[in-house]
Amino acid sequence: MTDVSLGIPQMPAPDYPADVRARLESDAREVIARYPGSRSALLPLLHLVQSEEGHVTRTGIRFCAEMLDLTTAEVTAVSTFYTMYRRKPSGDYQVGVCTNTLCAVMGGDAIFDELKQHLGVGNDETTGDGKVTLEHIECNAACDFAPVVMVNWEFFDNQTPESAKALVDDLIAGREVRPTRGAPLCTYKETARILAGFPDTREGAVEASGGAGPASLAGLRLHRGEAQGRVVGQRAESPGDGATYGTPSPAEHASSHDAPRQTAESDPAHPADPVADNAAEEEGE
Ligand code: FES
Repeated sequence: MTDVSLGIPQMPAPDYPADVRARLESDAREVIARYPGSRSALLPLLHLVQSEEGHVTRTGIRFCAEMLDLTTAEVTAVSTFYTMYRRKPSGDYQVGVCTNTLCAVMGGDAIFDELKQHLGVGNDETTGDGKVTLEHIECNAACDFAPVVMVNWEFFDNQTPESAKALVDDLIAGREVRPTRGAPLCTYKETARILAGFPDTREGAVEASGGAGPASLAGLRLHRGEAQGRVVGQRAESPGDGATYGTPSPAEHASSHDAPRQTAESDPAHPADPVADNAAEEEGE
């Protein structure tokens, strides 16, 4: 086999030991049976092979290709596209610091810098004991809890450099760590198996499967008339308790975003009727 891009001969990827292969094949068949087309099972199968070795190896790529009747090039293309698939050995705990705009200005950049110093690693690097891999992450839609840190994709909200350093210290020391929302943490390999679609047996995992926080729900509560607030101009102003924000009454809605309007009403000079327009144009031809 030759790596065409580099012209370097490559050895074929080694196979799994027979017992591992048999176990993975059984699991893979269970996953594949959930989909009308086998290739649709590629993403969970990549998580499955990650649960075995902690990252997607050439052996894992070959396994997925054989199970799904794909080429190794096709599997490689998918596995290198998504950041949730790791391409090299990494730590038991993937510590991601959100450094997207909102988290960054709320302290995410400072947290990341302090963790680099504290752990002695850079981005996408792993501590010498193999416990923690540090990385930047993009926005995880938890901006109302900024700055956010994620460990194996479980949320740790409203972090500070101090709390984040205590967090990684506990991970390295093997002390139990509970995310702000969700079940107790498990290792990266255990997380990968859950993401492959196998049952999450962690105590409290179902009950604590997450939910929106008060800040996220403020708009919904306002929409339902369950919250009140003051309004300055067309902008809502915090009532001061940090929990709810003001909104005009429905009759006072000034923004076109508040309620959909018919195009013909809002722009009577240009009634929108593409079917009629098209018909008229066709008649004129
Ligand atoms: S910017 Fe960090 S969660 Fe959105």
